[in-house]
Amino acid sequence: MAAKQMDFAHIGPETLAGRYLRRFWHPIHRSADLQIGRPVRAKLMGEFFTLWRGESGEAHMVEDACPHRQTALSLGWVAGDNIRCFYHGWEFSGSGQCMAMPAEKKSFEAKVQVRAYAVREYLGLIFAYIGEGDPPAFVRYPELENSSGGVTVHQHPVPCNYFQRIENDLDELHIHFVHAVTADRIGLHEMPEIKVSETPYGIRREGHRSGGGRNVTRIGHFIMPNISMVDLPPSPAHNYWTITASWRVPIDDETMMTFAIRLRPGEAPAHESHRVASPDPMQLTEDILAGRMRVQDIDPKYPGLFNVQDNVAMAGQGRIVDRSKDRLGQSDVGVILIRKLYDRELRALAQGKPTKKWKRPDTKLDFAISEVSAYVDV
Ligand code: FES
Ligand SMILES: [Fe+2]
Repeated sequence: MAAKQMDFAHIGPETLAGRYLRRFWHPIHRSADLQIGRPVRAKLMGEFFTLWRGESGEAHMVEDACPHRQTALSLGWVAGDNIRCFYHGWEFSGSGQCMAMPAEKKSFEAKVQVRAYAVREYLGLIFAYIGEGDPPAFVRYPELENSSGGVTVHQHPVPCNYFQRIENDLDELHIHFVHAVTADRIGLHEMPEIKVSETPYGIRREGHRSGGGRNVTRIGHFIMPNISMVDLPPSPAHNYWTITASWRVPIDDETMMTFAIRLRPGEAPAHESHRVASPDPMQLTEDILAGRMRVQDIDPKYPGLFNVQDNVAMAGQGRIVDRSKDRLGQSDVGVILIRKLYDRELRALAQGKPTKKWKRPDTKLDFAISEVSAYVDV
């Protein structure tokens, strides 16, 4: 009998998947949403962090619990570039050193630190490293840099485990069912034959279609451990094919956040944060999952359509799916491969063996479709 598959889903600090994922940089917030002087409480892989932008404009991140008596530092004030606790005013620098204790002897300060984390802003997102030791080299995305068009930065939660979102990225077939309205409108009619291969950075996925028109081969890239890059078809929210990089970040075991950067050809070059569609896709997702409405009833022009369609398909599996019950077929080769890679890497980690050093090329990855075409309103 085959060995039991490793647990990819649970991501607490002591779990194998949690330890593995903590070896990489992850986006934690949109840059535009972190204002000077307004700290936020951010959650990543089941842990809370205090994120703030000091008066110098620099972003900082520390653990959320104040070392004095544990209240959330994110409740506090920004003082210069430091964070000052709301409860009794202890003040910490971005490196985590205590700088002031209003009611204590001066000599106590030097002895107290809070854990601080490396942060880096890139393409409108704040990335953090919460693993042990020095952070790994920061991975750049030449496809998204120096865009001649506009760039939007998205953030939206999904009410299920991050690995279900990753599996969805490797499953091109679902477009023809979950997003059938859109596939229809752009003339993408033919179901693909899916081919996947392991690469130095993760997985290259090809969806082969033999027909003409829009029915050509599409290429997607999955960059380990949790990044999907595709040329996304037109939708009610964007009327052109658009290269999108999506980070699938666990918030906790049962919720994940997508951070996405999307190129908008033909628009003025600018980084801007995307506004949440109205009504809120999470509310619609909950209404559909609770049986109060049907996904088929959503107006095809609703800008959050893709989001809700994916959300309900994935959360419909359960917040954490039991994969031992799956009956996988030939169209599931992408799902099979990503499970195999995670299984292999987590097994190596468990045995104290080296894991694969993933490396994406410095040059741009290729995508089969880049032409601009309209979302046809019928
Ligand atoms: S709990 Fe933060 S200063 Fe007391
Ligand atoms: Fe989808």
